[in-house]
Amino acid sequence: MQFKGLHEKTLVIVKPDAVQRGLVGDIVTRFEKKGLKIVGMKMMRLDEAVLREHYSHIADKPFFPGVSNFMQHSPVVVLCLEGLEVVEAIRLITGITKARNAEAGSIRGDLAMSVACNVIHASDTVENAKSEVRRFFADEELFDYSKSEYEFVYIQDERESNR
Ligand code: PPS
Repeated sequence: MQFKGLHEKTLVIVKPDAVQRGLVGDIVTRFEKKGLKIVGMKMMRLDEAVLREHYSHIADKPFFPGVSNFMQHSPVVVLCLEGLEVVEAIRLITGITKARNAEAGSIRGDLAMSVACNVIHASDTVENAKSEVRRFFADEELFDYSKSEYEFVYIQDERESNR
């Protein structure tokens, strides 16, 4: 699995609040319109074990049980997205955790009000993205294909970059 240049990958979880509120299509459309490549996408239920691993950095916080219950309320949609500096790009589109203070135009800024029901999770660093993609996707669930619109999403230098 490559994580350089155009092949950098990140993980997005479309959370139960977005599934319940019928926002999955809107959120996926925003990634597509941005020019990002969907290389993996599936619906799944998260259990306590995977949530403890995924949220290990907040497992000892008083709000963790509430987050865990919320994330198990309904299935989620997980996406693996690919693109140049995609981790940073998605974090910008996502907006800050406390959605009611997130910038207008960002996904959370436009669609949510809560710190927990904030419609999506997005990997925060390239390192974390690598382990999060592996946590939720088997190799055979990720697809390598060329996207014809890339000629108009990136200039040649960017398409050939290996940063
Ligand atoms: S923290 O506390 O600095 O680790 O915060 P952050 O990394 O931004 O958040 C990690 C996830 O915890 C959720 N969160 C909360 N839930 C309930 N109450 C409070 N106060 C709270 N603060 C953070 C938040 O939704 C984050 O989920 P993800 O999926 O990472 O966005």
